Amino acid sequence: MNVPVEYRGREQTYLKHRVLTEYLNSWAQKWASTARGLAWPPQPNREVRLWYVDCFAGPWQANNQNLEDTSVAIGLNALKQAARRWTEFNINLSAIFVEKNPTAFSKLEKFLSTQTEPVKTHPLFGAFGDHVTTIDRLLGTDPAFLFVDPTGWKGAGMSFIAPLASKPHRDVLINVMFNHINRFKDDPRHFLREQMKDFFGVNSGNIPPKLGEDELFAFYREQLRSAAKIPYIADLAIPHSTKDRTWFRLVVGGHHHAAVELFRNVEKRICGTEANTVRNEARSRETLQLGLPLELEQEDISYQRLHQTALLQATSDILQNLARKSPQKFGDLWPHILCERHITKSELAQIAFSLVKQNRISIIEQEPNPRRRSIKSEDSIELLRST
Ligand SMILES: C[S@@+](CC[C@H](N)C(=O)[O-])C[C@H]1O[C@@H](n2cnc3c(N)ncnc32)[C@H](O)[C@@H]1O
Repeated sequence: MNVPVEYRGREQTYLKHRVLTEYLNSWAQKWASTARGLAWPPQPNREVRLWYVDCFAGPWQANNQNLEDTSVAIGLNALKQAARRWTEFNINLSAIFVEKNPTAFSKLEKFLSTQTEPVKTHPLFGAFGDHVTTIDRLLGTDPAFLFVDPTGWKGAGMSFIAPLASKPHRDVLINVMFNHINRFKDDPRHFLREQMKDFFGVNSGNIPPKLGEDELFAFYREQLRSAAKIPYIADLAIPHSTKDRTWFRLVVGGHHHAAVELFRNVEKRICGTEANTVRNEARSRETLQLGLPLELEQEDISYQRLHQTALLQATSDILQNLARKSPQKFGDLWPHILCERHITKSELAQIAFSLVKQNRISIIEQEPNPRRRSIKSEDSIELLRST
């Protein structure tokens, strides 16, 4: 796999855009398919309007004339693709782009003016925080995907994100610039303390000091959950292209468990597999320039750390969940584990099934099925006494 030349030297942005593309494409396809009337809610050929909201749109560091290396084009393309796939249904498309920088905004307007139907676009000039009410009004009750991708942390405070993300049928993806935030999160200067409190949505008291990376994100997720009342929130790590450290962390929030199921599948594909190839390519370019031999990694180390922990913890996660409530539907249990852990639903189901084989849990069924090979969401499982 070759990383497009526009992304050379900023491969972490490529990976961020790959996650955005994969998640948004599936999100748009899923909602477009509801116009069929076969999926929920079951109304024949109902009209569906889908929204993409780019709260920090840019264009920013674009190297491609058609802005294909920006979230602006990625968002528009995802909507158009969904409409193309379901042409026979009544799908309307809209997008909102917010940009504060006048030069970037005029580029944005110029680009949008070259776009032909079918997406109705709303460019909004100014700070995201000043447009929250307008965005909320435009979206109404339609399904919307919100992308929050600030340059640092300023202007992306929890008090702006929460009122928009709290409404049903809205998914949010927030890029938390971990590398920058990590350098300043414990800085004692008053103005930085206030900015950090805005970002994390801390209204009284302080952000707990000296949090490690995983603890910091557990804290951010909890703040988002309580401010926006979003039931399903998860995050993933995007590493720097050549250094072994996290650059961005993308946090997803959704009102349906399908959000975390999709997010973990995207994470495995992009952060587990593609990131490895992308980073090996970037490292080999750097190493060859320095004339050093290259040791290729087989798996991406950044994802491996989180994924291996999740796999190791999965058995106790399942047993502890069942210790709190047994019996329980597997479908009530997996979304909460996926919010915390970097594991896919099918991996977790396999581990749960191996616990059945070990007689540590059982599936409640009238007639045991000897040919059974997996656990499904609708299955009720219970802890066996000897566990
Ligand atoms: C990281 S860039 C966005 C990149 C873009 N989302 C992408 O992936 O291609 C952040 C953008 O937000 C703009 N910006 C900064 N503060 C803002 C604010 N408070 N409201 C809206 N836009 C802002 C910057 O001018 C910049 O263009």
